Amino acid sequence: MILRHIISTKQFLDTSLLDKIFRLADKMESREKANTLPNYLRNKIMVAVFYEPSTRTRFSFEAAMYKLGGEVITTESAGHFSSAIKGESLTDSIKIISGYADVIVLRHPTKGSAKIAADVSEVPVINAGDGTGEHPTQALLDIYTIEKELGRLENLNIALVGDLLNGRTIHSLLILLSLYKKIKFYLVAPKKLQLPKEYKEHLKKKKITFEEVEDVQQVLDKVDVLYMTRVQKERFKTEHEYNQLKSFYVIDKAALKKLNKKAIIMHPLPRVIEITPEVDKDKRAAYFRQAKNGLYIRMALLKMIIDGLKH
Ligand code: CP
Repeated sequence: MILRHIISTKQFLDTSLLDKIFRLADKMESREKANTLPNYLRNKIMVAVFYEPSTRTRFSFEAAMYKLGGEVITTESAGHFSSAIKGESLTDSIKIISGYADVIVLRHPTKGSAKIAADVSEVPVINAGDGTGEHPTQALLDIYTIEKELGRLENLNIALVGDLLNGRTIHSLLILLSLYKKIKFYLVAPKKLQLPKEYKEHLKKKKITFEEVEDVQQVLDKVDVLYMTRVQKERFKTEHEYNQLKSFYVIDKAALKKLNKKAIIMHPLPRVIEITPEVDKDKRAAYFRQAKNGLYIRMALLKMIIDGLKH
């Protein structure tokens, strides 16, 4: 298989390619720490086209490219700072940009936009988040983090907590975790933010056990991974609707007392109020280590994709 575009975690049909990505990420980390990284991507250009804001995804992709000796062209707020403001379509923009780039990293507010971009691009497109759709590279770094923290990717009880309706990291993650054995999901959400039907159907098809729960307290002592998400303000029609749901789940010192001693707490970040800062000091809080792993995973992905090697 040749890893070309990364649009959805549904592209990964078994765990063998995931393992190759993770082992390359391990190598990237050890070489980066030893200051012995070769210029694998010299003379290669990554274009980062972000129509939605980002801290982690854009900066870690850009850092990854620079660390591997490549170059970066980037636009944040692409809806304002590219010719989109003059009415240029996404497909026209991508056709043009793909003539200047070796790889395009795209974040866009519309579900399905990454696939549309890939269909017209001359170079690989990496989906860095398409609205409420998917965020596949986040899922890769999430699973890599679970493996690093817990030493296994099988036999896990995982609570996905918060905005399961709009959370694209959740959608990508549960598809990818469904490739592993003995996974049980607790889907913890208020009724209005429950996981869309298409993803529940996917879990049923894969014979993955899941339980829908509203009260996070019920699962704290049962889980190996507590994966928190923020309620996605930008996806709500009114501020009032958001305000009603924004503080449904808050992990604080009291919740830590109930949480399984060996569990890890993850979050794709940014967090708003769903994890209080006092939790950061607890060794189970893995979310900052998780964000750092994004750098190594994205280094591995850029190398594999730009090299265009068979994996
Ligand atoms: N996790 C994540 O996608 O963060 P950013 O929105 O900051 O890129």
